[in-house]
Amino acid sequence: MLISKKMNSAINQQVGNEFGASLQYVAIAAHFANEGLTALAAHFYEQAEEERDHAMRFVRYLVDAGGRVEIPAIASPRATFKNAADAVRLALNHELTVTNQINQLVELAIKESDHITNNMLSWFVKEQLEEVSSMDNLLKVVQRAGESNLIHVEDYLTRLHAKTARMVAEAKDES
Ligand code: FEO
Repeated sequence: MLISKKMNSAINQQVGNEFGASLQYVAIAAHFANEGLTALAAHFYEQAEEERDHAMRFVRYLVDAGGRVEIPAIASPRATFKNAADAVRLALNHELTVTNQINQLVELAIKESDHITNNMLSWFVKEQLEEVSSMDNLLKVVQRAGESNLIHVEDYLTRLHAKTARMVAEAKDES
């Protein structure tokens, strides 16, 4: 096995954290879908998929490193929200918590001189910067629009996703 027992168990914990984030985002997406806010719902369903991918990235790493995959129990996500800002703030706090968890994993890897795990974690460190920054932006847009003008948030997300899709298509054409 390429990693310590302690690192194995910390990564298993993170698999649970990432699946937990995925479930929380499904709950937020469903809340927005119930409110008829389809772009917000689609955005959070997509975030939920990304969190699942993060969990699977850790699972595959454990398998590659010869560790044991033991997924911990995952707490129920919160299902009710006072308003849109409340739901997006919860998501932002979740991202900040995950950033902290990733930092702790990096610290453990450094302490154990585990360069292989540290190298794998650098992808997550970069990803967290992107995720915290985009969730922070979304919260600002939601707060600026206000609860009665969430249609502006829907427009913002529709434009954002169209731009992302265009950039992905252009990157594919260039490769
Ligand atoms: Fe997997 Fe958004 O952190």
